[in-house]
Amino acid sequence: MQVVHRIADLQDVLAGASLRAFVPTMGNLHEGHLDLMQRARKEVDVRVGAAGKTVASIFVNRLQFGPHEDFDTYPRTLENDCALLAAHGCDVVFAPSEKDLYPEPQWFKLHPPAELADILEGAFRPGFFVGVSTVVHKLFNIVQPQLAVFGKKDYQQLMVIRRMVQQMALPIEIIGAETRRAKDGLALSSRNGYLSEAERAEAVHLSLALKALAATVLEANGKANLDVAAAEEAAMQSLRSRGWQPDYLSLRMQHDLSPVTWPCQQPMVVLGAAKLGKTRLIDNLEF
Ligand code: PAJ
Repeated sequence: MQVVHRIADLQDVLAGASLRAFVPTMGNLHEGHLDLMQRARKEVDVRVGAAGKTVASIFVNRLQFGPHEDFDTYPRTLENDCALLAAHGCDVVFAPSEKDLYPEPQWFKLHPPAELADILEGAFRPGFFVGVSTVVHKLFNIVQPQLAVFGKKDYQQLMVIRRMVQQMALPIEIIGAETRRAKDGLALSSRNGYLSEAERAEAVHLSLALKALAATVLEANGKANLDVAAAEEAAMQSLRSRGWQPDYLSLRMQHDLSPVTWPCQQPMVVLGAAKLGKTRLIDNLEF
């Protein structure tokens, strides 16, 4: 496996690869990230064998962090990440410095549509999807992959990227990979490392609250009505009573994240974000 830091070096290393499968990350890798890399490996092996290459990027993207968020403290563990990637089928790691990726302030930015980017995560993290779209578009231009793998853990992000690729006519196939969870059901996340032991034991309750909300919706299915807002509020209240500060727990249509109107039609998804102590966690469940 090769580790490169500069854009020009990456072009050299990737020259001649007939298929490039790309996994963008911010590092501090866990098994969820590694699932994406293994998926990329499999796609390359099946499609073109040794003629293709898998690429992971590791870059903590300042553009997608708000002024009071955890950009400075976000864990940076490059050496360990590279060892993990090498053991999971990665050919090339691209780990640019900020100077390489943003040699001057990034004045040109990609603005996803408000209907998609100003709701849910975007409502609580203004500018987040502008930062994500801009860096992913830039990384796509640098790596020039034919396919890229993203996790469903970041459900709205995956949808924003799919729409960006479609609307900007980027010739890239986007693959969505299932969320990897710990044994108790907590979705793996680099931010789980911020949790104290007691918080870690509590953390699974975000996914349990989403499951309970989905169950309420399924139970009401076929009945005349369900007060969706009340069901969402009850789910948030159950978390508040356990000491959480939820930002949202919300029932949406899978295909465009629009609100669900009754009578409901599957496929739906419940998405949630909540703070436990100082740590903000997100999760979702399709049904
Ligand atoms: P990061 O949070 O490092 O996540 C990188 C990729 O791993 C994303 O596609 C994310 O959805 C996926 N992922 C994270 N946790 C996962 C889990 N438990 N199971 C499966 N996949 C999981 O998302 C970002 O970085 C950034 O926004 C990025 C796209 C790299 C742009 O900066």
